[in-house]
Amino acid sequence: HAADAQRTDLMTITRYVLNEQSKHPEARGDLTILLSHIVLGCKFVCSAVNKAGLAKLIGLAGDTNIQGEEQKKLDVLSNDVFINALKSSGRANVLVSEENEEPIFVEASKRGRYCVVFDPLDGSSNIDCGVSIGTIFGIYMLQEGSEGTVADVLKPGKNMVAAGYCMYGSSCTLVLSTGTGANGFTLDPSLGEFILTHPNIKIPKKGKIYSVNEGNAKNWDQPTTSYVEKAKFPIDGSSPKSLRYIGSMVADVHRTLLYGGIFMYPADKKSPNGKLRVLYEVFPMSFLVEQAGGQSFTGQGRALDIVPKNIHERSPIFLGSYDDVEEIKALYSAAE
Ligand code: AHG
Ligand code: MN
Ligand code: MN
Ligand code: MN
Repeated sequence: HAADAQRTDLMTITRYVLNEQSKHPEARGDLTILLSHIVLGCKFVCSAVNKAGLAKLIGLAGDTNIQGEEQKKLDVLSNDVFINALKSSGRANVLVSEENEEPIFVEASKRGRYCVVFDPLDGSSNIDCGVSIGTIFGIYMLQEGSEGTVADVLKPGKNMVAAGYCMYGSSCTLVLSTGTGANGFTLDPSLGEFILTHPNIKIPKKGKIYSVNEGNAKNWDQPTTSYVEKAKFPIDGSSPKSLRYIGSMVADVHRTLLYGGIFMYPADKKSPNGKLRVLYEVFPMSFLVEQAGGQSFTGQGRALDIVPKNIHERSPIFLGSYDDVEEIKALYSAAE
């Protein structure tokens, strides 16, 4: 009757988080409350994304953000939704958003013990053509005795207590880790609940897919060039890898977690630190990939060991199946 039990004994994300909390008797339930507000934000953005075409939410918002990117309406809407949801949780303190130049310091009466770094809408360039987009977040605990300063979020990714993303695609899927593995939940719109659909995700040890924007090949360094060359023209008689590149990090990483392979945004001559932002793209995705048994490498070292100097800092990233990342690490160490 396992199937029947599954149908009548729903493992929702709320129940999963409460189970995790119960493993920490001293917990006050603050992280549970914080996560429930993040989940609410994801549900809201999911419904806005699904209605975007109809509600004229696609198209530009008329502003550009700190990244110099033209802001899309959904970027602005989702940013506002997450800022409000986090503030109203009463458990957040310092907030960092891709869309805000400066950190947001929650007012004293609503301050909590957690700092949240987030990319409210990842893959904005894909909004207007209906390709999957997402939200990415990472959570740090406030430093002991701190009232909340930028120092609380300029910490290595390995210090995060939780990380996750929500992908708004054919279904709305939220992948979360609170440090004991990575679990995937799918929104059941009829219930308005995220149901556990991908328990304890483990990334295949080796994959047959590589994921990179080959349009930057002219500017790649030698290790990346050699790796991609080998993927396309293997010299050991094995078959070439497949190229899959969606252009939304959330979608490319989600596929990599489930199918295996490697996702790369390398440094190139134009952008020596690559494009992806350390705090709210590289760290949360690296956290999740490691929790699923994979690796995440910057070309110099482990991504989660980076100590960021500023909140919008970028880093090259090579993440995915353990063995695939080992190969790129060997190429970079040989090039030193
Ligand atoms: P965002 O939409 O949050 O600014 O992020 C876009 C990022 C990431 O989602 C994706 O992996 C990458 O940009 C794609 O960049 P290219 O178009 O240069 O390949
Ligand atoms: Mn952006
Ligand atoms: Mn992004
Ligand atoms: Mn974004």
